[in-house]
Amino acid sequence: MKSLIGSTLLLASMAAALPQPAIKSTILPTIRTRLHRRQNQIIPVVVGGPQDTFVPNSVAAAVGDIVQFQFSNGNHTVTQSAADAACRPLDGGIHSGHIPFSDNQTDVGTFNMPVTSTEPMFLYCATGPHCQLGQVMVVNPANAKQVADYAKMSQESGDSVDGTDVIGGTAGKIGLDVAAFTPAPPEDEDAAPPAEAPPAEAPPAEAPPAEAPPAEAPPASEPPASTPSEAPANATAAHKR
Ligand SMILES: *[C@@H]1O[C@H](CO)[C@@H](O)[C@H](O)[C@H]1NC(C)=O
Ligand SMILES: *[C@@H]1O[C@H](CO)[C@@H](O)[C@H](O)[C@H]1NC(C)=O
Ligand SMILES: *[C@@H]1O[C@H](CO)[C@@H](O)[C@H](O)[C@H]1NC(C)=O
Repeated sequence: MKSLIGSTLLLASMAAALPQPAIKSTILPTIRTRLHRRQNQIIPVVVGGPQDTFVPNSVAAAVGDIVQFQFSNGNHTVTQSAADAACRPLDGGIHSGHIPFSDNQTDVGTFNMPVTSTEPMFLYCATGPHCQLGQVMVVNPANAKQVADYAKMSQESGDSVDGTDVIGGTAGKIGLDVAAFTPAPPEDEDAAPPAEAPPAEAPPAEAPPAEAPPAEAPPASEPPASTPSEAPANATAAHKR
């Protein structure tokens, strides 16, 4: 009897603690929490680095997500084009402006782009020949072929047109320690050529899988074994690669 009273009191206090329309409040918040979480993902994309690429070059994003472009070595943009006009800014499309990253920098320039539609967005770097070198990507592509077709069109585009006003996102900075990449090691003047240099050795990410390593491969771990003559002579420099 005593314990029955005790558990009745316990149940009563539990019921009292519940918000008023008990059924609704136990179901709805669960659903809302889940949607809320899904809609606010921050999706990092690394721009530039040892090669002129976007990594990854294809992302699936929901309305409400933020694609956070993190600018690695070089001087790059994220600029939107139309699907059928590669390397040309889309009227009213997004543009980050040119955001550099150089040796010894301890913070990383970012461009946070809120996703406002699940339609495919075609993006390129408007610096120099980067677009022709395959520095392109698609947000919410219909399929993988659409990404490959856009990269091919970019390679064949001849030249790029720069964006003008910064639009469609917010430029900012994050610490290098929380960035999604490890920067290329500072270059030695008499050692290897700068990361941006030889276009011939920087095939576009979408190129057929020839001998080139995939864009996703961690560049920092590439041993310079194939060119021992160019490799730094001492172990300290070699270890930094
Ligand atoms: C980046 O590129 C733009 C356009 O070519 C140029 O105006 C700007 O000076 C460059 N910034 C750096 C730091 O090289
Ligand atoms: C980076 O730091 C190294 C070592 O302190 C220095 O030799 C080099 O000039 C610096 N590079 C830049 C771009 O500041
Ligand atoms: C290693 O090589 C680099 C570049 O050649 C040089 O600056 C550095 O002083 C060398 N370090 C040692 C320990 O020899």
